[in-house]
Order: sequence, then C-alpha cells, then structure tokens
Amino acid sequence: MTDGRVPVRLGVIGCADIALRRTLPAMRADGGIEVRAIASRDVAKAERFAGAFGAGTALGDYAELLERDDVDAVYIPLPAALHAEWVERALLAGKHVLVEKPFTTERRETERLIALARERGRLLLENMMFLHHTQHARVDDLVSGGAIGEVRALAAGFTIPPKPRDDIRYRPDVGGGALVDIGVYPVAAALRFLGPHLRLVGAVLRAEREGGAVVGGGVLLSDPQGVTAQLTFGMEHSYHSGYELRGSSGRLGLERVFTPPPAYSPVVRIERQDHREEIVLPPADQFANVVGLFAAAVREGGDLTSWNEESLHRAGLLDDIRDKAEYTRVSRA
Ligand SMILES: NC(=O)c1ccc[n+]([C@@H]2O[C@H](COP(=O)([O-])OP(=O)(O)OC[C@H]3O[C@@H](n4cnc5c(N)ncnc54)[C@H](OP(=O)(O)O)[C@@H]3O)[C@@H](O)[C@H]2O)c1
Repeated sequence: MTDGRVPVRLGVIGCADIALRRTLPAMRADGGIEVRAIASRDVAKAERFAGAFGAGTALGDYAELLERDDVDAVYIPLPAALHAEWVERALLAGKHVLVEKPFTTERRETERLIALARERGRLLLENMMFLHHTQHARVDDLVSGGAIGEVRALAAGFTIPPKPRDDIRYRPDVGGGALVDIGVYPVAAALRFLGPHLRLVGAVLRAEREGGAVVGGGVLLSDPQGVTAQLTFGMEHSYHSGYELRGSSGRLGLERVFTPPPAYSPVVRIERQDHREEIVLPPADQFANVVGLFAAAVREGGDLTSWNEESLHRAGLLDDIRDKAEYTRVSRA
C-alpha cells in the first residue's frame, strides 16, 4: 500500500520469526515503506516470505541483497551475535539500518557502529519496540501529576517459559542468551523511568551447565539518589511482562508491557492507602510506530541520536551485568 509518500525501499536480511509475526506485517501496512527484497540462507524460505509480504525479490544470500541499488534501507532480525557483522556490512554498502534488539552483544561494538553510521551519513536504529508504545507517556503524566508521590523504586520483569531446544537463545555464540535477549527489556524500562545515571549494584545470572547459555537472572540497579530498580528476567519461568513504579504515597503498575498486541488496551493500576483505581488506555501499535519512525527518518533525514544514546546506556549496563554478576550453574530445564 502506498499513500503518496515516496516509499523507503527496504530489504530484509533473515527470515526470522519476529519478522514474520510482527515487523513485516507492520512494514507492509505502512504506506511509507516498500518491502523490495528478502534474503535468507535458504532461497525457498526467502521466496515464501517474499510471496507472503509482496516483496518483488527473494534471494538466497544476504550479501547479494546489500549490493542492490533498489534497496535504501535494511532490517536485520538475525540472532544477536550476528548483528554487529551485518550492521557493519550494511552501513558500508550505504544502507540505512533498522536492527533488532539487542543492538549488539557488547557496548563497544554498538558504539563503533553508531560512529560508523554517523561517519557514513546513514541512519541506524535498534528495534526496541516497547519503548514506542504510547502507554509509557501516560505513565509519565500520571507520575508527574503526583499519582504515587516521589518515585523511590521500580520493579520490572520479563520472564517466559522455556523455548524449543534449538532456539537461538540457547546458543551463546549465536543468540547471546537470555540476558541480552530478554533482560534488555527490564533494563530498558529502568533507564526509561529512572534515567541514564543508573549503575549496577549487583546481579545473579543463571547459566546452563551444558553450553553456558544464560537462562535467567536478577539485577539491582541504583541511581545516585538511591532510587533503585529491581529486575527479573529469564526463559525458565511462567510468563510475566510488567513494571511497577513505587512511590512515597502509592504504586503504579502495568502488565503485558513489553510485547502488547496492537489491539490490546493497557490497564494502569494505581494503589494508594485509601484508593485503588484502574485506568484503561487506548490500544497502540508499537510495531507500526517503530517502523513508521524509522521510515520517516530515512525519508526526511531525521535525527535518531537520542535513540542511539539510549541504546548505548542499555548496552553499558548489559556489559556490566555480564561482567560483574555472580553466576550460578543450573541444569537444563
Ligand atoms: N523487537 C522485538 O519485539 C523482538 C521479539 C523477538 C525477537 N527479537 C529479536 O529478533 C532477533 C531474531 O529473533 P527470532 O526469535 O525472530 O529468531 P529466529 O526466528 O531464530 O530468526 C533468526 C533468523 O536469523 C537467520 N540466521 C542467520 N544465521 C543463523 C544462525 N547461525 N542460526 C540461526 N539463525 C540464523 C535465520 O534466517 P534465514 O534462515 O532466513 O537465513 C533465522 O530465521 C533477535 O535479535 C531477537 O532478540 C525482537
């Protein structure tokens, strides 16, 4: 579908599950994007994706897609440990890049790639979709309006049941494990609400005895005033995806915050001593919002610097957690 804007001609590198379920449908629905080419290691898979999403070209080689003159920007939903290589290759080929979270698996790589994008005059954005949902701005308004008094702490968790054994998240060399893949969400929520000066106080990571993949963990962060963030994440749990802000006079929380479907109406729960309330918010499509933001920036020469800075803060904390955590070895679930 086009709507009069000159569409950004986009290529996709890797026929990932997230591309199939969320990003490609959002791209297809955005009149400012034309999905021009899809590449997979397996050309038959690329053909299936291209057919389903109306892309004219299916390729069996990622590098070939980067050589195409009819592609302005690429979306990279590869396993985490492959992001750095393909982001770099795409930037060097002159493409703008939307890369899946986590940006890379190390802060210095993320920093190097952001600098490379700037040097080459290309745009680069980490697809941290939940930050593009409108519900968080409503939370800001409620908090600044005094709904819970002074913010003293945040608790956030993203936990999911085990994945099939061949999932990329069990392969540290490829997928990066649950810290960078899942822990990045509560870390991002903490930075979103408590600011960029959070530092690591302590962390425990649970890593499989066989293979070494991190499958879960807990983290304590603090800002210079002692406002804390207590984070839980993992892939050996019952499902939970939420955050709660704890203030001097009340608490405010949301569930299903990290991957709400487009039709879902978020519910803000506020509790004070003598008061309990639920506020139902309008649905928002965070998948559409982020692809729309990226495409508009490419089309109009927008500035994504502040998003890149947030990515760096996240990456710095993830490095610290990985390097300073106490590790516990666990058996496979
Ligand atoms: N933003 C979000 O809400 C969100 C949600 C879920 C996941 N993600 C992120 O998206 C990325 C992909 O996650 P996913 O769950 O969609 O993974 P996935 O289904 O396993 O897809 C990864 C794709 O990477 C390609 N690939 C290239 N080399 C590979 C290798 N050595 N092993 C496995 N796959 C390889 C494959 O595409 P071909 O076979 O076509 O080459 C594969 O389909 C991760 O960075 C993840 O953190 C983001």
